[in-house]
Amino acid sequence: MKTAIIYFSKTGASAECARELYKAIPESTLVNLAIDTCDIPKFDNIILGGGIRAGMIPSRLKKFVFSNELEIQKKNVGIFVCCSDFPHSVDYIEKNFPPLIVKRAVCCAGFGGRMNADEMKGIDRFVAKVAAKRIKKAGGEMPSINYAKIAEFAAGFK
Ligand SMILES: Cc1cc2nc3c(=O)[nH]c(=O)nc-3n(C[C@H](O)[C@H](O)[C@H](O)COP(=O)(O)O)c2cc1C
Repeated sequence: MKTAIIYFSKTGASAECARELYKAIPESTLVNLAIDTCDIPKFDNIILGGGIRAGMIPSRLKKFVFSNELEIQKKNVGIFVCCSDFPHSVDYIEKNFPPLIVKRAVCCAGFGGRMNADEMKGIDRFVAKVAAKRIKKAGGEMPSINYAKIAEFAAGFK
């Protein structure tokens, strides 16, 4: 079974998760939508992933999914998001991906995320700093990548 792991990552968390999936899933190929395209018919499994900003997946990922919706529907699909609001991961997936693809998906999951202001620039850096202050004030924990979730997800595509 051939698997394409198709992702777009602005600050690197989804890219790291995609690489973890790549290490865990035999015969898999990484497709970074910032630089690559994907010949969907070549693959049996399609995994789609990206980081959430203001409740939305990256526009490049959204464009790819909506313009290839019919081809993607023919495959075993997996969807992941990286976000700071881990309990809302599946809500984000349901709001951003076409309903038929979500319905067909073998796995839908949040892998957690990262918000390190020092690694960010501009508005992202500002938002990350504000979020970090709020989290600290509330005594919460900064988001982190959930490697156990990634391993569980990968098991569905072996
Ligand atoms: C400007 C900005 C907006 C964000 N908006 C949300 C949001 O609406 N919901 C959420 O759960 N996380 C939000 N996050 C957290 C990101 O989803 C998290 O940093 C994720 O790891 C980013 O993935 P990426 O590094 O692959 O781009 C936001 C982060 C930034 C910097």
